[in-house]
Parts: sequence; structure tokens; C-alpha cells
Amino acid sequence: MEQTFIMIKPDGVQRGLVGEIICRFEKKGFSLKGLKLMNVERAFAEKHYEDLSAKPFFNGLVEYIVSGSVVAMVWEGKDVVATGRKIIGATNPSESAPGTICGDFAVEIGRNVIHGSDSVESARKEIALWFPDGTVNWQSSLHPRIAP
Ligand code: TYD
Repeated sequence: MEQTFIMIKPDGVQRGLVGEIICRFEKKGFSLKGLKLMNVERAFAEKHYEDLSAKPFFNGLVEYIVSGSVVAMVWEGKDVVATGRKIIGATNPSESAPGTICGDFAVEIGRNVIHGSDSVESARKEIALWFPDGTVNWQSSLHPRIAP
């Protein structure tokens, strides 16, 4: 089953949009497979955005991501990568339609609340980076490992 990586950025967390965002993915019918609140270090944020390292906005983008807690999530379902991008809306909030997350909650491209993987291949890479120990599955919830 297809999976995507979704990150609620520091402004989304600070503004109390976590529940609203999760609600939209849940109501659509996608399944939550992993979720954690994290503060990431600069090197980690740079790794996540490594394809953009030559862009003029790269440093500001990394500063923004490390500026506060983020919520990292894995969502699963049919066509979840492309459909997740539709739920999020266009990257630039001036172009994102009302009804999308960016369209409803953002005005600045540099404070656009949420990230979603742009392809199945980037989803695979991003999930591996953010969830190196994997995500929850049926077996792990039935057989919790208890530390000795
Ligand atoms: P990008 O990879 O182009 O978009 P997406 O994440 O939707 O695939 O850009 C990544 C992030 O960089 C984007 O969410 C916001 C930020 N950004 C800027 O701050 N300024 C810009 O001009 C662009 C294009 C992106």
C-alpha cells in the first residue's frame, strides 16, 4: 500500500493546527502509520531538503524548520502521495485553492504550514530519513517489546 511523508512545520504546530490537519487526512480515509513530535537539528533539516541546497531560500528554509517543534507523520492509502498533495494545495499559498490546507491557513511561501512528499520515490526516502526504526504495524502493536 502506498505511503507518504507529511510534516507539520513549526508555524503549524505553534498555531495549533495539528488536530485540524490530522482530521483532514483521516476524514479523507487515509490511515495514520507513524507520528512524532520532534525538534530537528540543522544537519537533519539540510538532509531533508538536500535537493534544494542550491536555492536562494535554502538557508531561510532550514532556519524555519529548526525554529520549533514539527510533527512528522506517515500516512497510507490508495494514491496517498498525489492525493495528499491535493489536500495540502499549491506550495505557494497565493496560488493554493481555498479548501486546501495551504489555501485555508497560509499566506507566505516561507511559512506554509505543511510539507508532503512530491513523489512515491521521495516519500520512500523521506520516510526512511524520518522514521529510521520503521512505523507501527499490526505485529508491533500486538507484541510490544519491553526493555529488559
Ligand atoms: P519545493 O520543494 O519547491 O516545494 P514542495 O515542498 O511543495 O515540493 O519547496 C520546499 C519548500 O521551500 C516549500 O514548502 C517552501 C520553501 N520555499 C520558499 O521558502 N521559497 C520559495 O520560493 C520556494 C519555491 C519554496
